Amino acid sequence: MKKFNRTLVTTALPYANGPVHIGHLAGVYVPADIYTRYLRMKGEDVLLIGGSDEHGVPITIKAQKEGITPQDVVDKYHNIIKDSFEKFGITFDIYSRTSSETHHETASEFFKTLNEKGEFIVKTSEQYYDAVANQFLADRYITGTCPHCNNDGAYGDQCESCGTSLNATDLINPTSSITGNKPELKETKHWYLPLDKYENDLKKWILEDHKEWKPNVYGQCKSWLDTGLHPRAVTRDLNWGVPVPAEGAEGKVLYVWFDAPIGYISATKELTPDWEKYWKADDSKMVHFIGKDNIVFHCIIFPAMLKAEGSYILPENVPANEFLNLEGDKISTSRNWAVWLHEYLEEFPDKQDVLRYVLTANAPETKDNDFTWKDFQARNNNELVAILGNFVNRALVLTHKYYNGIIPAQGELTDFDKETLAQIPVLKEQVEKNLETYHFREALKEAMNLARLGNKYLADTEPWKLIKTDEERVKTIMNISLQITANLSTLIEPFLPFTANKLREFLNIEVLAWENIGANVIADGHRINTVSLLFEKIEDETIQAQVDKLLATKAANEAEKKVVAPAKENINFDDFMKLDVRVGTITAAEKVAKTKKLLKLTVDTGIDQRTIVSGIAEHYKPEEIIGKQVSILVNLEPKQLKGIESQGMILMAEDADGKLSFVSPDQNIKPGSEIR
Ligand code: MF3
Ligand code: ZN
Repeated sequence: MKKFNRTLVTTALPYANGPVHIGHLAGVYVPADIYTRYLRMKGEDVLLIGGSDEHGVPITIKAQKEGITPQDVVDKYHNIIKDSFEKFGITFDIYSRTSSETHHETASEFFKTLNEKGEFIVKTSEQYYDAVANQFLADRYITGTCPHCNNDGAYGDQCESCGTSLNATDLINPTSSITGNKPELKETKHWYLPLDKYENDLKKWILEDHKEWKPNVYGQCKSWLDTGLHPRAVTRDLNWGVPVPAEGAEGKVLYVWFDAPIGYISATKELTPDWEKYWKADDSKMVHFIGKDNIVFHCIIFPAMLKAEGSYILPENVPANEFLNLEGDKISTSRNWAVWLHEYLEEFPDKQDVLRYVLTANAPETKDNDFTWKDFQARNNNELVAILGNFVNRALVLTHKYYNGIIPAQGELTDFDKETLAQIPVLKEQVEKNLETYHFREALKEAMNLARLGNKYLADTEPWKLIKTDEERVKTIMNISLQITANLSTLIEPFLPFTANKLREFLNIEVLAWENIGANVIADGHRINTVSLLFEKIEDETIQAQVDKLLATKAANEAEKKVVAPAKENINFDDFMKLDVRVGTITAAEKVAKTKKLLKLTVDTGIDQRTIVSGIAEHYKPEEIIGKQVSILVNLEPKQLKGIESQGMILMAEDADGKLSFVSPDQNIKPGSEIR
């Protein structure tokens, strides 16, 4: 195995168009923090890099919707996000942002270097342009009818109704969301990175030399590489982002996925004048922590950019996670379906470690996982309280009770004592092995096994019984229990830093070195501090309140879904005059046999008495509509319905819930009166 002398850990830069939620924490920031804390405890040279991704179209759309500038949007969310991470103990060496000056410079220089080296292809193509707004339209700014499912609200990059990914030119009746106008196609020039040029190198690098990558990551890369790579545009016609530093590029910015990963470089630069060592030295190891939707950018596109530049190292690993769902549904910022970190911090003060624990124990490492409040409660009550808290509390409380808080001498060890102590380095090794291979759930389990070991030791030795018969033996037992407790404070530090800190306060000790885990780490005669509970039980009411909050969100989303149908295209007056709409009076009504929905009506149209079959049986009873005046389209071609000829159509008003209502004149009027 290759020997590295320093590690650069990067975390996906979250978009600053909303706060961060448990999915972010579980997928990226908690595992990255665990990994970094572990390396730091081992005394290694490691940097944890983060920041906000402040460019891209969604931010400009949000700004437009709220009537503020994109800068206002990112200022607001950058601060909220940064604060949440800090409060959850994510130990960034720097948390920067892509609107920073250093970043603009760095990204701009990077592009220039590639441009000067002739690494880009410049191509002209036709793209939608809004002539009224005077600008090219990003795919997200164009809506229209999906050619696959006829959904009227499909976006230029995707139909959210049927999930198909689209090109803006696929849309039927494309409309600019800026002005509502029909956009026109216009030529525009863009810079493309020819990914195909790196295909063979990337294939060797990933498919042959990095077979150890997680199967989900390796698999996605393989599928991209097998399909074949093509040139990708790295510029956009947009006025928010890093301006393209090239001739003839006015009004263009770097594509957000081009500038954002360079943000890792910019942030390192802001952090240390030594930044190049981390990015360019062969003995530096770079690890990208990301979610699965970022895999292609970090494993294919960014590496191709770095190769094109030529002086940078490539990542050693990209331990991407799958997604965390919430109570069975995909987490969504726009649908407010999330547990927001800033809200959690307010509603569960001082319980950061509970969430860190639950998210790690249930991390979506190999497949999508589900966060449920029930599971959150169960893991807190049955694991943190019952295993970790319980052991620590018994060890410390008994020390106070029997020895006034002074650690007794270890005395003579039995075989069982020795076996118990011998387990500590074994667990340490298990934790290490798992952390070094990015198996965080398993690593946490092994760390918790030390608390399990402690509980078992106390249960088997029963010092509370022996204290009456064998005082010397109890001294040994308590000493060993405290050695386990002190080791726990080190072993859980990467995962549960707040708890580890509390433990050290109880024990009245400083941070212990990782290498020392396993030895006798705490001396006899040492005085421990007063203790309190490490974790408290979470009650059903607390959980129910959270579930209710989500149910309320669901209800609000359902209500919002039922919006008014979009307006249809204009028609001219002649088209309108073709419709012959009249007032008619219903003179007879009966259900159509063997149908649920149909009524057979007889209607006095003023012109004649005619039969109309209408799908209103679920809304009106036949007897209650006799004599009712309604609107009728009388010149609709007759149609056979269940063997009855229907001569026209009763016009009904229908709301988004499908509720039907007659459209009736507001006073009695002669049948046959024209409606126009
Ligand atoms: N903002 C992107 C997302 O949330 C991640 C960007 S990662 C970076 O999906 F590498 F580009 F910075
Ligand atoms: Zn569709």
